[in-house]
Amino acid sequence: MHKTKVLTGITTTGTPHLGNYAGAIKPAIEQSWQDDIQSYYFMADYHALIKGRDPERIHQSTLEITATWLALGLDTDRVTFYRQSDVPEIMELSWLIGCMTAKGLMNRAHAYKAAVQTNEEKGEADPDKGITMGLFSYPVLMAADILMFNADKVPVGRDQIQHLEMARDIAGRMNHHYKTCFTLPEVIVGENTATLSGLDGRKMSKSYDNTIPLFCSEKKLLKLMRKIKTNSLAPGEPKETDGCTLFQIYAAFASEAEIAEKRQQYAEGASWGDLKNQLFEHLNAQLREPRARYNALMKDRAFMQAELKKGADKARAEATPFMAEVRKAVGIRPFA
Ligand code: TRP
Repeated sequence: MHKTKVLTGITTTGTPHLGNYAGAIKPAIEQSWQDDIQSYYFMADYHALIKGRDPERIHQSTLEITATWLALGLDTDRVTFYRQSDVPEIMELSWLIGCMTAKGLMNRAHAYKAAVQTNEEKGEADPDKGITMGLFSYPVLMAADILMFNADKVPVGRDQIQHLEMARDIAGRMNHHYKTCFTLPEVIVGENTATLSGLDGRKMSKSYDNTIPLFCSEKKLLKLMRKIKTNSLAPGEPKETDGCTLFQIYAAFASEAEIAEKRQQYAEGASWGDLKNQLFEHLNAQLREPRARYNALMKDRAFMQAELKKGADKARAEATPFMAEVRKAVGIRPFA
C-alpha cells in the first residue's frame, strides 16, 4: 500500500500550550494512527536558532516538546519522531537547494519583508538592520526538511502557506534542472482545528505572552483559568458563547453533547466564577494522566534521548541514501 507521507516540524522556542495542543499536537497524533499515513514529526531546532539566542531556552524547549508528544501517546514505532539537528543530511540538502533558489524568491518571504518594513518604519538607514542570513534563508531550510523525505502533505498554520509554495518552487527547479524526483509537497491548513484564544482574548501565542501551558501544575492551571478575560455580566445574566475564550477552550476539549450542555449553561446565566471552575475541572480531568507521564519523562532524559535516537536512525536510513543520490545528481560523486 502506498502510504501518504505527512511531515511537520515544531520550532523549539517555547513551552507547549493549550493552543498548540488543540491546533497541532492532538490532530497530528490522531492522524498518526491512520494506516494509510506515514508520519514524520520533528523538532526544528536549527530553525529555533533563528528566533532565539538563549541556549538554555532552546534546550529546555526541545526537552519539553519531546516529553509532551511522548506523554500524549505518540507511538514512536509508527511515526518517525526526530530532532532536525540529528539528521545532518537536512543541512546538506539545504545548501544544495539553496544554490538553486532565486534570491528574489526569498526577498518576497513574508517574515523577511515584515522585518524590512519594521526597519523602514523606524527610519533605519539600513533596511536589513538586525536581519540574519538565518532569517533570510529560513524557507530554504524548511524546504530541505520537507524535500528530504519527499513528504506528500505538510500540515501547518496559515502563516506557513507561502513557505510551502516556496518548497514546491524549489523542488520544481531541482527536478527540472537536475532531473531529480523531489515530491512537490501539498500544504494542509487545518480548517477544522481550533485556534484558541489566550488569557487576554487574543490568539494564544508565545509572542503575546498570554498562553496557558499544557502541563503546568494543577494549582497554576486553576490560577490561569481565573485570569482568563471575561466581561462584567453578573451571575444570572445570559452570556454569549460566541467570542468567549472560556467557551472556546472548553469546546476544544469537549464532545458535541458536552458543548451543547455548556451552551445551555451560558444561556441560563451561569456565573463566570462557576464557568471558570468547571473549565478547570474539565481540563484537569483530561490532563491529569498525561501530565503525570510528562513529569516522569522530564526526569528520564536517557529514555527521551533513546527515543530521539531511534527516530534519527529511522530518518537517516532514508536520508543518507537519498542524499547520496542527490549529491550525485548535482555532480558531486566519487571518481570511480
Ligand atoms: N516553520 C514552521 C513553523 O514555524 C516550523 C517548521 C520548520 C516546519 N520546518 C518545517 C513545518 C517543515 C513544516 C515542515 O511553524
